[in-house]
Amino acid sequence: QPIFRADYKPPAYLIDTVHLTFSLNEDVTHVTSRLALKPNYAENGAAPPLLLNGRDDVKLVGLKVAGQAVPESGYEVTPKSLTLLSPPAGPFELEVVTAIKPQDNSLLEGLYKSGGNYCTQCEAEGFRGITYFLDRPDVMARYTTRIEADAGKYPVLLSNGNLKEEGQLEGSRHYAVWEDPFPKPCYLFALVAGALVKKEDTYTTGSGKTVTLRIYTQPANISQVDFAMVSLKKSMKWDEDVYGLEYDLDLFNIVAVDDFNMGAMENKSLNIFNSRLVLADPDSSTDGDYARIEGVVGHEYFHNWTGNRVTCRDWFQLTLKEGLTVFRDQGFSADMNSAPVKRIEDVALLRASQFSEDAGPMAHPIRPDSYIKMDNFYTVTVYEKGSEIIRLYHTLLGPQGFRKGMDLYFQRHDGQAVTCDDFLAAMADANGEDLSGVGRWYSQAGTPTLTVSTAYDAAKKSFTISTHQVTPPTNGQPDKLPVLIPLKVGLLGPDGQDLPLHLEGKGDLGASTVLRCDAEHNSFTFTDVAVEPVPSLLRGFSAPVKLVVQGQTDDHLRLMFAHDSDPFNRWEAGQRLYMKLLLQLYGAAAGAASSVPLADCCAAAGGVPGELVAAFRAVLEDGKLDGSFKAMAMRLPSMAEIVDRIDEADPVLVWQVRHYVYQQLAQQLRPQLEAAIKANDVPPGTPYEFNAQQCARRVLRNMSESILGSLESPEIQEQLLRRFREATNMTDRMAALTVLCDTDTPGREQALQEFYAANKDKPLVLLKWLAVQASCALPGNIAKVRALMGHPAFTITTPNCCYSLFLGFARSVNFHAADGSGYEFIGDSVIKMDKINHQVASRIAGAFTTFKQYDKERQAMMVAQLRRIAAVEGLSENVFEIVTKSLQQV
Ligand code: ARG
Ligand code: ZN
Repeated sequence: QPIFRADYKPPAYLIDTVHLTFSLNEDVTHVTSRLALKPNYAENGAAPPLLLNGRDDVKLVGLKVAGQAVPESGYEVTPKSLTLLSPPAGPFELEVVTAIKPQDNSLLEGLYKSGGNYCTQCEAEGFRGITYFLDRPDVMARYTTRIEADAGKYPVLLSNGNLKEEGQLEGSRHYAVWEDPFPKPCYLFALVAGALVKKEDTYTTGSGKTVTLRIYTQPANISQVDFAMVSLKKSMKWDEDVYGLEYDLDLFNIVAVDDFNMGAMENKSLNIFNSRLVLADPDSSTDGDYARIEGVVGHEYFHNWTGNRVTCRDWFQLTLKEGLTVFRDQGFSADMNSAPVKRIEDVALLRASQFSEDAGPMAHPIRPDSYIKMDNFYTVTVYEKGSEIIRLYHTLLGPQGFRKGMDLYFQRHDGQAVTCDDFLAAMADANGEDLSGVGRWYSQAGTPTLTVSTAYDAAKKSFTISTHQVTPPTNGQPDKLPVLIPLKVGLLGPDGQDLPLHLEGKGDLGASTVLRCDAEHNSFTFTDVAVEPVPSLLRGFSAPVKLVVQGQTDDHLRLMFAHDSDPFNRWEAGQRLYMKLLLQLYGAAAGAASSVPLADCCAAAGGVPGELVAAFRAVLEDGKLDGSFKAMAMRLPSMAEIVDRIDEADPVLVWQVRHYVYQQLAQQLRPQLEAAIKANDVPPGTPYEFNAQQCARRVLRNMSESILGSLESPEIQEQLLRRFREATNMTDRMAALTVLCDTDTPGREQALQEFYAANKDKPLVLLKWLAVQASCALPGNIAKVRALMGHPAFTITTPNCCYSLFLGFARSVNFHAADGSGYEFIGDSVIKMDKINHQVASRIAGAFTTFKQYDKERQAMMVAQLRRIAAVEGLSENVFEIVTKSLQQV
């Protein structure tokens, strides 16, 4: 029952206005919806039946056309729809009354309860869980929403737009009426009702309008919203400065809820957030949490223009708003913090999770061609790879050209529901450029490999860069065509400094230039190159490809690691050196008899060579480098990235080899790591602040501590326990706990107990406590993780708890235990969760989609779990899609 992009047809009816009345009650909630419908079918044509989307837990209790009840023969109801069989010709009014039970809605789609309060989540297709409706984004209407509820229990009543009216009703009830002047698709509708408290602030726009900003939480949490408020104001300012976009209403609300499937939702003027992305204080939140909050507050705010004012025609176009808005939030975070480090983090995430998605059974282009359940396509491909494709325009056109394209996009499409092609056309037309080469990125899945070879002609003093691109076949797409790959390059001289670039026929280009690789083979010749240079390729990760550089030596990489003026490539050179070593050691260990201890295999294969230790040390001791950059440069490639480079990998061995390299670095650089820890201690008494300087100190210190922790010496363990106890903020406390948790010492249990005792009333902090135990690498940890499901800290109906425990575990090496116990546990969890929450269940099921990357024994065990899940009666469409698409690849 897949839906295809190629089948898109405009709706037969449109809706001008929607009048909703919610009567919220503990037993049954009634929703009355009055729609002003108008024909969108051919003029003079007969009125076709009106098909409205619904859900099986929505009960129809009334249906009127133009004020007259529709007789039973006039409509048809199925578990998923309501069809009005013969609508009147011309515009007409339809009234639909439904009965729903938000208190029983554990899907967390539509209207549901969280922490005793009502809230909604309608993207992508949750509105049909509230009332029968044309639940598709190209139907945009103006909404008026009346909410009636008990005044004692639900003093706060919120919806989109402006508050028009409020007052008392008979009994203890009250009401509020909200009106949103901007037409919107129903996925942007929101309602909140509850005993919430707020913090209020204002922001004055560049044109002088004062906007009231409110953040609502449960009473106990209101002291934790200041950081989110500051982030919101920074976002508003940034969008004006960089894109010339101002906020368009007088009120902007954010509400934090504990039970939420995703991160947050950009409902018009009433953003609803997972509380872990709003609430922060130094004692509960890490630097990483602060950074994510800033980024997501920005993301949802930026959607007001890229998503809400201009929305998607259909869900296949999701990357139109998500890829673009991720690109915008990345730019915001880069400007607020360290731009190079932000870029490195984003690329690391892309490689660790998107590349494997692109190589697996769920591979899809950033604009998918079909889906069974749209929720399964809120993916790293649509979001993060989508953002990389937006970045291509930016790289090709430059910031000013990109801005011209954005301006034209809004000029043409404000108030419309449009497509990715419309975006491309705006970028192209605004700049008079042919960007059709970018277009292919929207339709092809898979990560291209770009292979580069170079040739230096000493006599002619010319240097030629030749490229060859291949996109591998993916699920349903056997043949691929070349895409446009902007290749940003520089040439390094023997001292590691940039050489001035001269390209045949192009004159002087400065230190970096962008080459357009748009064919299977391309070649570019630089002239006036005095000495053979070392090419610095794909600077800033200028395209989401796998780069293979022929003839790239360790000497080249070390030169770049020490000197490349492009910070991304400087980091990248280090990663390539580590990766080469890791693969070599893995090969040696995999080839040896299992009786030989791993350390001996690795030592026999050369261990960690002195040159690498020296390069690592040089970074650590470089007085000019930023601490957070150093910490990134000291990090070995992730498990996922290493596994991606090995055919049928043994994940346990990969983990051991990676651990071995950290141990060697710790052994050989212990004094330097200890010195880095000392030098970066924040002086006692300094109050915690989330700022670049403090974050850099903490991350470098904690990274050094974690590398030393791999030594598992009692002395270091003791020091860690002390650090854990003396930590004055959650960043340092969690860093120490994470290392302790991976070591089998009494300090481990002590630290975990103390942490729990200190935080047992803080659900968000307990998520960290669950996650750190779930992802622990100690052999046999599975028993503890299973036991945690019965712990009071774990609530199975709260997605955050499931993500911490199940996804935390699925990321750990114990997921891959040779006896299959980890796979069985996750299989059990998917089956159990699917009865409660389909979206959460399908995300957990995603852990099995990488099965092809592992050795035959593990493949067989993962496939066995997929089959076991597939055999479950009454599986949700969400899980069904993941599981069947995976099994098709067996
Ligand atoms: N639009 C939201 C955001 O990215 C995410 C909504 C996710 N909804 C879903 N059903 N998966 O900001
Ligand atoms: Zn988004």
